[in-house]
Amino acid sequence: MAFKSFFPLLTVGIFLLGACSAEQQPNTKERPETKEDVLAEQKPPEGKTVYDANCAGCHDAGVAGAPKPGDKDVWQARLAQGLDVIVKKSIEGFEGKSGVMPPRGGNAVLSDKEVSNAVTFMIDTPQIK
Ligand code: HEC
Repeated sequence: MAFKSFFPLLTVGIFLLGACSAEQQPNTKERPETKEDVLAEQKPPEGKTVYDANCAGCHDAGVAGAPKPGDKDVWQARLAQGLDVIVKKSIEGFEGKSGVMPPRGGNAVLSDKEVSNAVTFMIDTPQIK
C-alpha cells in the first residue's frame, strides 16, 4: 500500500528528470568547441612535471635550505602548520629561517592548482636522491 501511493510520484519524478536533461542537451552543442574549451577541460600538469620544471632547481639540492622532496623528517616538521598553509605560502612566497621561497617558485604563470600539485608531489614522493 505504501508502495502503491509512492509509485506514481516516482514515475513523475523520473519523467521530469528526463525532461530536464533533454532541455539542456542542445545548449551544450550550440557553440562549437574552441581550443580554449578543450584546454580548460584538461587537468593541470601532474605535480612531478611542475616540480621538475619549476622547483627542482632549488629543492633537489636543498639550495638555501629548501626542503628536498620526500625528506620525511623535514616535511613532517613543516606539515605541523597545515598543508593548506604550506600551499598558500608556496603560492605567495615567503622568507623562512633558512632562505627565501619565491612566489610560485618564481614562475608567475603557474596556477594555484599547479603549485599545489607540485607541493603534494614533494611531500608524497619517496626519497630517491
Ligand atoms: C629560488 C629557489 C626556490 C625555488 C625555485 C622554489 N623554492 Fe620552494 N623553497 C625555497 C627555500 C629556500 C625554502 C625554505 C625557506 C625557509 O623555510 O627558510 C622553500 C620552501 C618551500 C616549501 C616549504 C613551505 C613551508 O611552509 O615550510 C614548499 C612547499 C616549497 N618551497 C614549494 C616550492 C614549489 C612548489 C616550487 C616550484 C613551483 C618551489 N618551491 C620553488 C626555495 C625555492
